Amino acid sequence: MNTPSFEARFERLRDEMLAFLADRERHAPDHQADVIHAVATEIEQAHLPAVRPEPRRLGGHRHLDAALAMAKGGPMETLAAAFAEIEPDLRWIRTEHYREKLGDDYMENYCYTNILGYDGLIEHDRVIAAFFIIGPGRHYPRHHHEAEEIYFPFGGDTLWSQDDETPRLRPAGEAVHNTPWLPHEMITQKTPLFTFCFWRSPGPIKLAQLTG
Ligand SMILES: [Fe+2]
Repeated sequence: MNTPSFEARFERLRDEMLAFLADRERHAPDHQADVIHAVATEIEQAHLPAVRPEPRRLGGHRHLDAALAMAKGGPMETLAAAFAEIEPDLRWIRTEHYREKLGDDYMENYCYTNILGYDGLIEHDRVIAAFFIIGPGRHYPRHHHEAEEIYFPFGGDTLWSQDDETPRLRPAGEAVHNTPWLPHEMITQKTPLFTFCFWRSPGPIKLAQLTG
């Protein structure tokens, strides 16, 4: 069977993202619903560029198969499947300034790809919509950023913390909402962390900073 065109795979992913976000918006508290709605609108209106970024895989990509397997049977299964179809043609990136504090080993075990955002499939300076992976047994230490952020985990046993709370499990498909400058951290256990996430920034996006 021939692989569908990139454009067809993108439209499928877009449909899945929008269907998921529309459902989440209906169930979210007011402010969170506003953020979801704003990001969904940007996804809906986005245009593919004439020239796409060069596809690239990074070390952390080796956790993708386990991440996709983890999403199976969960509430975000069809979104994960649409992502898996287009992923070979996407560009994976990482926040390079983390290397100094987190080390080469960490950098080789995490990566993300921006569908919207910087260095992304579709450039955007205020909104990010991304798929993000961290391998098992890692600590993404406390960090914060000006942008408002919502993660939707695909599943797994990652422990999530906001502010000073004890890190805890979060259910698949349920929002982890980080308001601007709220410190947060994640600790992966046996499974990778695999999440759909987005940012909405009041001005041009500034990268996350570690707070420790
Ligand atoms: Fe964050």
